[in-house]
Amino acid sequence: MPQLTPPEMNQAGNNVPTRNVPSHSVPSHSVPSHSLPTRNVPSHNVIAIDGPAGSGKSTVARAVAAKLGMPYLDTGAMYRAVAFTAMRRGVDPDDAEVVARLAADMQLEVDERVLVDGVDATIEIRSPEVTRAVSVVAINPAVRKELVRRQREWADAKGSGVIEGRDIGTVVFPDAPVKVFMTASDEERAQRRTQEMLDMHYDEVAADIARRDHIDSTRPYAPLAVAPDAVLVDTTSSTVEEVVELVLQLATKAGLA
Ligand code: DC
Repeated sequence: MPQLTPPEMNQAGNNVPTRNVPSHSVPSHSVPSHSLPTRNVPSHNVIAIDGPAGSGKSTVARAVAAKLGMPYLDTGAMYRAVAFTAMRRGVDPDDAEVVARLAADMQLEVDERVLVDGVDATIEIRSPEVTRAVSVVAINPAVRKELVRRQREWADAKGSGVIEGRDIGTVVFPDAPVKVFMTASDEERAQRRTQEMLDMHYDEVAADIARRDHIDSTRPYAPLAVAPDAVLVDTTSSTVEEVVELVLQLATKAGLA
């Protein structure tokens, strides 16, 4: 079964052992959101799923959305789409001003496919090049502000959704009724990603994950962090089905299922 921290154990109604996640991999603090736009969308129907790369959140979020018949949004794909567009246009991802303008101007549709300015970039946004460039794009406060605005607009239009990312429960939808923070051991996460990335070796993937974890967790704006009221789930030794079941229980308790 998934491993939960104590208050959440009761909340989920599960009798599973307690295990704390190492603090170096998951900083637990509230996020200063003063420089991000204030919420203007009711988030009562949002299931927020956050966590680092390889924690299993995409698989779980997709499955939960399918079971509940709710729309699903992968916000990581949005940051990847901005990085992809910068690279395609020959813009240096470090050039904060130009990248911010590009994020504001680009047409972006994230669904089963990812369409950037009408072009299908579903495959390209997962390339090692985009994966290397995306963290620096995600540091950019103006890019974050624009993508947060689009994420809230998406939820507003859909009325409900399972939304996954790094800051969904802390910044984008701080009053979401279900917040899950998924994690797994560094080795397990690297192992999972190596299986997905056929052209990369374990050591390379592990180093890339460690680098992105560090950048994502230490950036000043909306870092990867556990919301104080999130249910922390360690998926190292769990099956997808177990974690999905747990999230469905939380959704039922919150009246979303
Ligand atoms: O989930 P992913 O690996 O596809 O995300 C790609 C990058 O985007 C990741 O390095 C962190 C960033 N990201 C973010 O900063 N905030 C989000 N809500 C989602 C992703």
